[in-house]
Amino acid sequence: MTIEAYAKVNFTLEVLGKRVDGYHALRSVVMPISLSDTITLEPAPTLSSDSPYPDDLCLRAARVLHSSIPSPLTSQLSPVSIHVEKRIPAGGGLGGGSADAAAILRALNKFWNMNLRPEELAAIGAQVGSDVPALVLAQHYRAPVLMEGRGERVSLLTPQLSPLSLILVNPGVFSSTPEVFAKCTPHLPEDPTILYNMLSALATGDAAKVAPALQNDLEAPAIALHGEIADAKNTLTEAGALGVVMSGSGSTVFGLVQSEAHGREMAALLTTKGLKAWSVNTLVR
Ligand code: C5P
Repeated sequence: MTIEAYAKVNFTLEVLGKRVDGYHALRSVVMPISLSDTITLEPAPTLSSDSPYPDDLCLRAARVLHSSIPSPLTSQLSPVSIHVEKRIPAGGGLGGGSADAAAILRALNKFWNMNLRPEELAAIGAQVGSDVPALVLAQHYRAPVLMEGRGERVSLLTPQLSPLSLILVNPGVFSSTPEVFAKCTPHLPEDPTILYNMLSALATGDAAKVAPALQNDLEAPAIALHGEIADAKNTLTEAGALGVVMSGSGSTVFGLVQSEAHGREMAALLTTKGLKAWSVNTLVR
């Protein structure tokens, strides 16, 4: 069985406070994009994964799903080998490891005939990682998702009628999520206009309206740790992208472009300058 593990970018990411469990309270509009890893599952004598991530979320996802099944039934589930063809850069703020975990939950749900709804899989995904619930819903419904709390509260937002075109640039530095969160000052008092402006802009489907509503509270602390992120933002802005912002905890930055053709031209130009750039679309049904 083969499944695409679609990555995400955060169109907004607000850090609203530090929680007693050490995590941060977030509010984020998570948008699935056409950049993906390809995951292949095959029956095997034991559970295994060739994911290149040191902290293998693929295996963790399979084990957490397996342990959610009542024990008399687990002997009927065949183990799988997981093969990951990587395209999403690791440590890039695009949810790479979480996208793989979300796709594995969705694939094993079918492979093991569990018939869980995406919302039930998302709740199980919260035990795997903070971004996993949002990615389960975003990949399944091919629509933006509002993520709140630590990441465990997720709700589907209105699907878009037509895709938005984006250009991504990865500055080639590894941005550590715990380090960036530790350096972040929560954005208080809460500003309800940030989410409102993004939802209103998304409803128009107009890239020029969405661009000024992009926002990420983790960007300033990530830039303080890695100046290369600011350089990548400047490069994208100079190349003509709109509303350039960092995704997640970095280091990838993205901007909106008016058409996919424009995005492809821009990506080709940036690649000739030695940068890692991708032209992608937001997913639509
Ligand atoms: O849940 P996950 O393993 O993806 O989180 C990685 C790290 O990111 C956590 O250890 C924590 O430092 C930070 N984090 C946070 N608040 C969140 C999500 C992640 O502080 N809501």
